Amino acid sequence: MDFTLSEEQLMIRQAARDFSRNELLPGVIERDEAQKFPTAQIEKMGEMGFMGMMVDPKYGGSGLDTISYAIAMEEFSKVDSSASVVVSVNNSLVCWGLETFGSEAQKEKYLKRLATGEIIGAFCLSEPEAGSDATSQRTTAIDQGDHYVLNGTKNWITNGNTAEVYLVIAQTDKEKGHKGINALIVEKGMEGFEIGPKENKLGIRGSDTHSLIFNDVIVPKENRIGEDGFGFKFAMKTLAGGRIGIAAQALGIASGAYELALKYSKERKAFGTEISNHQAIAFKLADMHTQIEAARHLVYKAAWDKDQGNNYDLSGAMAKLYASQVAMETAVEAVQIHGGNGFVKDYHVERLMRDAKITQIYEGTSEIQKIVISRDILRD
Ligand code: CAA
Ligand code: FAD
Repeated sequence: MDFTLSEEQLMIRQAARDFSRNELLPGVIERDEAQKFPTAQIEKMGEMGFMGMMVDPKYGGSGLDTISYAIAMEEFSKVDSSASVVVSVNNSLVCWGLETFGSEAQKEKYLKRLATGEIIGAFCLSEPEAGSDATSQRTTAIDQGDHYVLNGTKNWITNGNTAEVYLVIAQTDKEKGHKGINALIVEKGMEGFEIGPKENKLGIRGSDTHSLIFNDVIVPKENRIGEDGFGFKFAMKTLAGGRIGIAAQALGIASGAYELALKYSKERKAFGTEISNHQAIAFKLADMHTQIEAARHLVYKAAWDKDQGNNYDLSGAMAKLYASQVAMETAVEAVQIHGGNGFVKDYHVERLMRDAKITQIYEGTSEIQKIVISRDILRD
C-alpha cells in the first residue's frame, strides 16, 4: 500500500492551490454577494487544462487520473465552490459522459470544445417532480424517425445559462420505465429551448442555476448518447463518478474552513491567551483534523477505484456521504471558533458554511447515498 502522491499529482495540487489563492480568492466575497458567475476564472481554468482534466489529449483534455482531479477539486473548493461546481459538472458529468459513451462524431463535435473550456456543458436530469426519484421522468423525447421531439422542464440545472451544450435525460417510451429513457445532446439556441430565471441560492451563489424549458425542440437522432433506452444507465453511471467530484468539493470546503479556524485560533486572544490554548477549542480542531483526514482517505480511495477500473459506486457514495457531513460539521465549528467574526462575510467561514450544505443535496442527497450504500452491502 502506498499513500504517496506522485510528482504529477503534487504538481497539480500546487498549480490548483496557486490558482485558488491568486485567481479565485480575490473577489470571491463580492461574486458570492452579487451572484456573479466566475467567467474570467473559468476561462483561465480552461486555458490551464482544468476543464477536461481526465479527457484524452486527443480530444483536447489533460489526460490526468481521477486522483489528480479530486486533488484539484479540493484545492478550488477551499476557496470558491461556485467555481469548483462548474469544474465538477464539466469534467465528471459532461466530458466523462461524452468520452465514455458518446459516438466518435459527438466527441469531435462537442467534447473537444468542452474539454478545452472553450464551451461549458450542463447535465440535466432533475425535474420539478423527479429529483431523488430520478426514474420518474416527465420530460418526453418522442421518436419521430430521424429526430426526437423534446418537451418538458428541468429544474436546478448548474451552468443553466452559461452552458452551450446540455445533456438532457428524457422519457421516450413510458411503457418501458427506466429502460425507455434516453440521453440527448441539446444545443443552446435550438428552437423551442428556453432558459428559466436564475435561482437565488443559500450557497454557491456565483454558480448559475436555472430551470430549462423545452417546447417541441427538435433534436436529431445522431445527438442521442448510446443505444435507444440507455439514458437512465448513462445518468447513473455518470453520476457515480460525479459523486467523487462532489465528495472532493466537500473535502475542500472542510479543509478550507479548518485551515481558517486553525489560523484564527492561534491569533485571537481571550482570557489572556490564544484561544487555541483553551482545550474546548483545541479539541474542536483535533476532531476537525481527524474527520478531514478520514474523508480524504475515502475520497482518494474512490478516485483510486475509478482509476484502477474497479467498481466505484459504493466507494464514491461513501465518500460523498461522509465528506459532505464533515464539510457541514467542520464549517459550522469554524464559524464557532471565529466567534462574532465568523458571522460576518470578511472572514470567509460563513460562506463556506453556506456552501457546505449543497454537498449534502446535489448529485444525490445523503439519504440517496445511504440507499446506494445499503443496497450494495445488503446485496453482498
Ligand atoms: N450504474 C449502472 N446502472 C445503475 C446504477 C449505476 N450506478 N444505479 C442504478 N442503475 C440501474 C439499475 O441497475 C436499474 O437497471 P436494471 O433494472 O436494468 O437493473 C436501473 O438503473 C434503475 O435502478 P433502481 O431500480 O435502483 O432505481 P431506483 O428508482 O430505485 O433509483 C437511485 C435508484 C439510486 C435512487 C437513483 O434514482 C438516484 O441516483 N437518484 C438520485 C438522483 C441524483 O443523483 N440526481 C443528481 C442530479 S445531477 C446533479 O445534481 C448535478 C449537480 O448538482 C451539480
Ligand atoms: P426530493 O427528491 O424531493 O427529496 C426531498 C427530501 O426527501 C430529501 O431530504 C431526500 O433525501 C428525501 N428523500 C427522497 N426520497 C427518499 C427516499 N427514498 N428515502 C429517504 N429519503 C428520501 N440536478 C441536475 O440534474 N443537474 C444539475 O446540474 C443540478 N444542479 C443543482 C444545483 C443546485 C444548487 C441544486 C439545489 C440542485 C441541483 N440539482 C441538479 C438537483 C439536485 O440533484 C436535486 O435537488 C437532488 O437530487 C434532490 O432532489 P429534490 O430536490 O427533488 O429533492
